[in-house]
Amino acid sequence: MNQLTPPPKLDLIPESAPFSAEQRAWLNGFFAGIVSLDGASVTPLSADQGAAVMQGVAGDGDDGEAPWHDQTMPIAERMALAEGRPLRRRMMAAMAQQDCGQCGYNCHDYSEAIASKAEARLNLCVPGGKDTARMLKTLSEELDKAPTTKAPVAPASAAPAGAPGRSRDNPAEATFLSRRRLNKEGSEKDTWHLELDLSEAELDYVVGDSFGVFPLNEPRLVESVMAAIGAAPDFAIGGRTLRQVLTDQVSLAPAPDSLFQLISYITGGERRQKAKALASGEDPDADAATLDVLAAVQKFGVKPDPEAFVEALEPLQPRLYSISSSCNATPGKVSLSVDAVRYMIKDRKRLGVASTFFADRIKPGDKLKVYVQKAHGFGLPQDGNTPIIMIGPGTGIAPFRAFLHDRQATKAPGRNWLFFGHQRSDYDFFYADELNAMKASGLLTRLSLAWSRDGAQKFYVQDRMREVGRDLWAWLADGAHIYVCGDAKRMAKDVERALVDIAAQFGARSTDEAISFVADLKKKGRYQQDVY
Ligand SMILES: Cc1cc2nc3c(=O)[nH]c(=O)nc-3n(C[C@H](O)[C@H](O)[C@H](O)COP(=O)(O)OP(=O)(O)OC[C@H]3O[C@@H](n4cnc5c(N)ncnc54)[C@H](O)[C@@H]3O)c2cc1C
Ligand SMILES: NC(=O)c1ccc[n+]([C@@H]2O[C@H](COP(=O)([O-])OP(=O)(O)OC[C@H]3O[C@@H](n4cnc5c(N)ncnc54)[C@H](OP(=O)(O)O)[C@@H]3O)[C@@H](O)[C@H]2O)c1
Repeated sequence: MNQLTPPPKLDLIPESAPFSAEQRAWLNGFFAGIVSLDGASVTPLSADQGAAVMQGVAGDGDDGEAPWHDQTMPIAERMALAEGRPLRRRMMAAMAQQDCGQCGYNCHDYSEAIASKAEARLNLCVPGGKDTARMLKTLSEELDKAPTTKAPVAPASAAPAGAPGRSRDNPAEATFLSRRRLNKEGSEKDTWHLELDLSEAELDYVVGDSFGVFPLNEPRLVESVMAAIGAAPDFAIGGRTLRQVLTDQVSLAPAPDSLFQLISYITGGERRQKAKALASGEDPDADAATLDVLAAVQKFGVKPDPEAFVEALEPLQPRLYSISSSCNATPGKVSLSVDAVRYMIKDRKRLGVASTFFADRIKPGDKLKVYVQKAHGFGLPQDGNTPIIMIGPGTGIAPFRAFLHDRQATKAPGRNWLFFGHQRSDYDFFYADELNAMKASGLLTRLSLAWSRDGAQKFYVQDRMREVGRDLWAWLADGAHIYVCGDAKRMAKDVERALVDIAAQFGARSTDEAISFVADLKKKGRYQQDVY
C-alpha cells in the first residue's frame, strides 16, 4: 500500500452489529485497509457477517481473561479452565504459557494466528512439547469444520520483509568467535560465555531481546541413527544426503507420534500394537519419555525407508538464548550465557542439541544461522533514572549482564540492584570479576548473592529477597522496576511469592492486597519476566 495514502474511511460494520464502538472502529479500519489494497467495490456487511469476522479475532463473547496463563499449571487444568470458551481461547490454553517467543509469537498471538489460519504450523511451542502439539492437532480438527476469516495476526518478530536475522523464518549468518567456561573446575554445572560476530549480518538488538540459533545435531548421534535404520549416509533426499538432512533439518530428540505411526505400518503383531499406542499418546511400556528417535528405532528394530523415515520426523527447531551483551557497549557482537544440557538415560548420554553444539562442537570461525527475537515487554525502563532490581539465578543472569553493560555504556544514572544465585560460591559465581568491578565503580549499587549448596540448607534468591525485604520495598516505593529471569517452572513462581510477602509485610497490606499490588506492577510493566 502507498504509505502516504490513508485508507478510505468506511462504515462497513452496521450499528446493529454486536460490537462496541471500539470494535466497530477497529473492524472498519481493518476492512478499509483491505479495500485500499485491492480497490474492490464495497458492500457493508450484515450483522451476521460482521459477527463471523469477529470469530477468531475478538468479539465472540469471550471476556479476554486467561486464567490458565500460568506456566506451572498442567495442561489438563489449563484446558479445564478454558472449557466452553471459543476455539481460539482453548488453543491459547494449550500453549505452555511461557510467552517465551520460541514460536515467534507470544502464547496469545500464536493461538490467534492458528485460529485465523494465518499460521499452519502446530508444532512450534517448544516448552509445550508433544502435549501442546497433540492438543492443537485435536483442536484444529474443529477449526477445519468452522468457518473462519483470516485475521491480521503477525508473529511478534514480524519485521520488514527481506530483513534477514529478524525472525526465525528468515535467519542471518553469524560467525562464532569464542567460548569461556563460567564455572570453575569442580562445579557440577557446565555453563559457557559465548561470543558471536554479527558485523557481516549487520544485525543489532536491544538489551532484553533473545537470540535465536539454529543448531546442528551431534555427528555421532546422526551416525548411530543411520546405522540403526541401515541406511547409507549418502542416500539422496531432495538433492541432499541423508547425513546432511539428519544433521540440520530434523529433530532427533523426542520420537514424534508420526514416527511411531510409520513404525506401526512396517511392523506386525504386538510391536505394531505398541507402536500404534505410542502414536496415540499412550505409554504401553512406561518408557515413552525416554524414547528419542534412536531409542525408538532400536526398541522396534525397524529399518524404514530413509525418505519415509525423514518425513516422519519433526523439523529441528531453533533455540532461544537471552542476550547477555549490549550493542551500545560492544557493537557488532552478541554474547550468550549457555548451560550445557547432558543427562543419562539407560546407559546412553543424551545431549541437549543447541547447548552442547555451543559447549562442545562449534569452533571459532564457524558460521551459524541466527536471528534476533524481539522481547515481549522485557527491557530497560525508558527513563535511565529509574532504579532497577534484577533477579537472575543461574543463566538467568544473562539479560541483567546486558542491562548493566547498557546502563554503563549509556551512562544511565539510575540505581541497579542484582540478585544472583547459584549452587556454590567457589565454583558458580558467574562474571564475578566483572560484577565486583561494577560494584566498586558504583554502577552496581547492590549485589545480593544466594548459594544453594554452600550450607546444609538450600538458600535461594527469594530467601535473600525476604532478608532484605525492607530495602527492596523502599526501592519499589521509589519507582523501581523489578525483573526476573531463569527457570520458569519453580523459581519464577517462588520469587513472585516472595515479592507478594514483602509487599504484605513492608507495605502493610493484606495478602490479597499484596497480590493485587504485584499484579498491578505487572500490568504497568514494572514487573517483567524472561523465563524458560
Ligand atoms: C526466551 C528464552 C531464553 C533462554 N535463555 C537461555 C539462556 O540464557 N541460557 C540457557 O542456557 N538457556 C536459555 N534458554 C533455554 C534454551 O533455549 C534451551 O532450551 C536450552 O539450552 C536447552 O536446549 P538444548 O537444545 O541444548 O536441549 P534440547 O535438545 O532441547 O533438550 C532439552 C530437553 O531435554 C530434556 N531434559 C533435560 N534435562 C533432562 C534430564 N535431566 N532428564 C531427562 N530429560 C531432560 C527436557 O525434555 C528438555 O526440554 C532460554 C529459553 C528461552 C525460551
Ligand atoms: N526441569 C527442571 O526441573 C529444571 C530445574 C532447574 C533448571 N532447569 C533448567 O535448566 C536450565 C539451566 O539452568 P541454570 O543453569 O540457569 O540454573 P538452575 O539449574 O536453574 O540453578 C540456578 C540456581 O537456582 C537454584 N534453584 C533451584 N530451584 C530454585 C527455586 N525454586 N527458586 C530459586 N532458585 C532455585 C539452584 O539451586 P539447586 O539446584 O541447588 O536447588 C541454583 O542455585 C534452564 O533452562 C532451566 O530452566 C530446569
